[in-house]
Amino acid sequence: MDVIANDLRACVEPTESIRFDFNNMLDKRVGYGRGVSAEVLEALRGKAAEALSAVQAARGTGWLEWTELPYQDESILSDIKDAARDIRERCDAFVLLGIGGSALGPACVHEALHPPRANELPAEKRGGPRMYFEDNIDPERMASLLEIIDPAKTCFNIITKSGATAETMSQYLIIRDALQRAFDGSPDWRRNIVVTTSANRGLLVEIARLEGFRSFVVPEGVGGRFSELSPVGLLAAAVGGVDICQLLKGAAVMDELCKQTDIMKNPALLEAALQFIASRDLGRNINVMMPYADGLRLFADWFCQLWAESLGKSVTRSGAEIYAGQTPVKALGVTDQHSQLQLYTEGPFDKVITIIKVESFRNETIIPHAPEGYPADIAFLGGITHNKLIEAERQGTEYALLKAGRMNKTIIVPSVCAYTVGQLLFFFEMATAFMGELLNIDAFNQPGVEESKLATFATLNHPAAKYEAKRREMAALPERDQAYIL
Ligand code: PA5
Repeated sequence: MDVIANDLRACVEPTESIRFDFNNMLDKRVGYGRGVSAEVLEALRGKAAEALSAVQAARGTGWLEWTELPYQDESILSDIKDAARDIRERCDAFVLLGIGGSALGPACVHEALHPPRANELPAEKRGGPRMYFEDNIDPERMASLLEIIDPAKTCFNIITKSGATAETMSQYLIIRDALQRAFDGSPDWRRNIVVTTSANRGLLVEIARLEGFRSFVVPEGVGGRFSELSPVGLLAAAVGGVDICQLLKGAAVMDELCKQTDIMKNPALLEAALQFIASRDLGRNINVMMPYADGLRLFADWFCQLWAESLGKSVTRSGAEIYAGQTPVKALGVTDQHSQLQLYTEGPFDKVITIIKVESFRNETIIPHAPEGYPADIAFLGGITHNKLIEAERQGTEYALLKAGRMNKTIIVPSVCAYTVGQLLFFFEMATAFMGELLNIDAFNQPGVEESKLATFATLNHPAAKYEAKRREMAALPERDQAYIL
């Protein structure tokens, strides 16, 4: 595999670890009655230990197969690297077609580990194909994609675990058509498609066999939102020049931490316990993810899907009504200081804010000195760096939140690299699994999403009987009142 084109993507220290500062979740910092007390946390230790045991006992089985992804077979990684090398040599664009868990992880890792606007860099600086993550079926988006890529020089990675998702399969049919035209009848168009899907379930695996597409497997027991460290995310990462072994190594290191039985040494268990208490006892039903780095903007998107789809459940595992789940919200520091922070500091006491602090950026931007005679409030900026300014603003936000009695915590990332991103991903996946246990819900299904899929197919008059039943159910709704359509 090529070395990463831009060596600024390497960790400052290849062994550096992310750290967690939970101080501002506690009442002694944020104010009595407004944070978690030491006694309440202590009282949760037993339940947290049970959550840990349950996850550890089930790891590698059922829907917890994803816990083994950091240790996956070398032969899988080697196939991924081979395919990536071939794509980097032949193609000047790589387009991922997928949705939800089949797109958010790959897009987040790409954005984190490449310079902003990487696609606009000249090819020699980029060192690999332009990368596009197409996770919607807005007709204007597909049309504009086809205007800027040459299908003959583009690799399309079709990703769907179920192998039947309408959004992804409709994209596939459009691309298949475009490729056939671009290759003018030559069967070589098939080399420009790589499929990532379940080995034995769904329709895409059959299509891949029929057409002879190169394919990768989404392992059984790895749900979409937990699949970033499987071939779902690893192929795109390798095509982009990311060291996928460092990504997995970071996840493995975090996995070790998340096996610790002492809650004060297990960051994901502590995270889950604090969020559990925050929502159960203090009504903190909104969970804001606020990275202070553009490169982690899509990380917040990835996290929001993970937390929302896993924990938003109406019933417990025994079927009792619960209506659980904090609403995750994405924000970006410092941009959203000028949009959301007013609400976070003075609005309802219903939020926990997670700040991500990046200690070392890939670039340093020095602010030039202002000309003589400029007002002091502008002149004082001269000579400092944007690196210093963004950190000062982050500290300012943390202080404003604390002063207003708002629960917050900080994840400290020494530098954003494959190793630390692997840690971040695995940390939140484990925290989600622990939170599912504490809530006693199934964190790995998504019945609410399935309902919308059924209704969509029914609306499109799909002939199967189950959609006919759904059509009748939908038609039984009260009539829409024209008086309310203005
Ligand atoms: O996390 C999940 O399971 C979902 O978000 C899925 O990833 C999403 O619905 C897409 O499903 P599929 O990969 O089967 O096309």
